[in-house]
Amino acid sequence: MDLYGALRPLIFRLDPETAHNLAFWLGERTCAWPRLSSPEHPAALRRSVLGLDFPTPLGLAAGLDKGATLLPLWRSLGFGHVEIGTVTPRPQPGNPRPRLFRFPEAGLILNRMGFNSEGAEVVAARLKRRPAGLLVGGNLGKNKETPEAQALDDYRAAYRLLAPEVDYIALNVSSPNTPGLRNLQAPEALKPLLAGMLALRQELGLERQPLLLKLAPDLAPEDLDAIVEVAVASGISGLIATNTTLDRGVVAEPLRARVEAKGAGGLSGEPLKAKARDVRRRILTALAGRLPLVACGGLGSPEDVQGALDDGAALAQIYSALIFKGPGLVDRIHQGIR
Ligand SMILES: Cc1cc2nc3c(=O)[nH]c(=O)nc-3n(C[C@H](O)[C@H](O)[C@H](O)COP(=O)(O)O)c2cc1C
Repeated sequence: MDLYGALRPLIFRLDPETAHNLAFWLGERTCAWPRLSSPEHPAALRRSVLGLDFPTPLGLAAGLDKGATLLPLWRSLGFGHVEIGTVTPRPQPGNPRPRLFRFPEAGLILNRMGFNSEGAEVVAARLKRRPAGLLVGGNLGKNKETPEAQALDDYRAAYRLLAPEVDYIALNVSSPNTPGLRNLQAPEALKPLLAGMLALRQELGLERQPLLLKLAPDLAPEDLDAIVEVAVASGISGLIATNTTLDRGVVAEPLRARVEAKGAGGLSGEPLKAKARDVRRRILTALAGRLPLVACGGLGSPEDVQGALDDGAALAQIYSALIFKGPGLVDRIHQGIR
């Protein structure tokens, strides 16, 4: 058993958010080690996507390192990229606790964090000292109190601060924990949002920086097709699919009743896998190669990641499986993919 396997029963006896905070406290001290090594990836893992050179297709999904505090650690684990955030323009506390629940027997996480964020200014300042050798994406969201009609202003405010510090930007319109956010996925809302962001990108002279859109797994197939057409027509650079699901039907009984008892939030991990795969395949078919797709959702093994790449995804991201299987998973995935 590896070290994480040995410590896991202890870690999992802690409240999930306490465990997260403890891990970050330790992680920040580890990042201060001057010679925190980073693995060399075989050339075969390299890929050129979105005009960027990724040392490996595997990245860390948004939501774990919301404030970009552990970048050297992610690099040392072997991730090729990290999506930081979601970052909101102004600081906000997120939802009241408890807001994070794990179900290790199913490899499932339920969260309703609600964009706890230090705000774009603080995170942008931290990114000025970001380490080399790791691609960083900035995932942006709107503040909770901002009305839906003013969402574009929030994304633009966060973009102005963060875009100059990162390699790509992801617009998060798919978190289920900010009321109304997912309505921005509707084509009539999406068109002005994407147009407004692309105009700002040009205004700031960042035309070459990729702008991606992160989608929910809870969209009907025809809606996905329509969103793909809006995305391609808009001129954005790519899509990320998927975020967490609201669908409790992905969890089998008797666990489902326990999950439902915890209340609102998005589900991620193993139970999301099949749904995220179906959505990914539908999007890839609709895209027909016109834009790259970043696969996310329920990926937890080399086979899962290879499967997503074989489907046609350009890159893959993980989150929940890292919590359950530990940091050694990154290496295992790299050993097992082509
Ligand atoms: C606790 C937690 C917080 C998350 N926060 C964010 C977030 O702030 N922004 C975002 O775009 N996705 C967020 N996600 C979603 C993940 O990035 C990912 O899309 C989702 O968990 C599916 O991948 P997984 O099954 O590998 O975990 C979060 C997920 C979890 C479990």
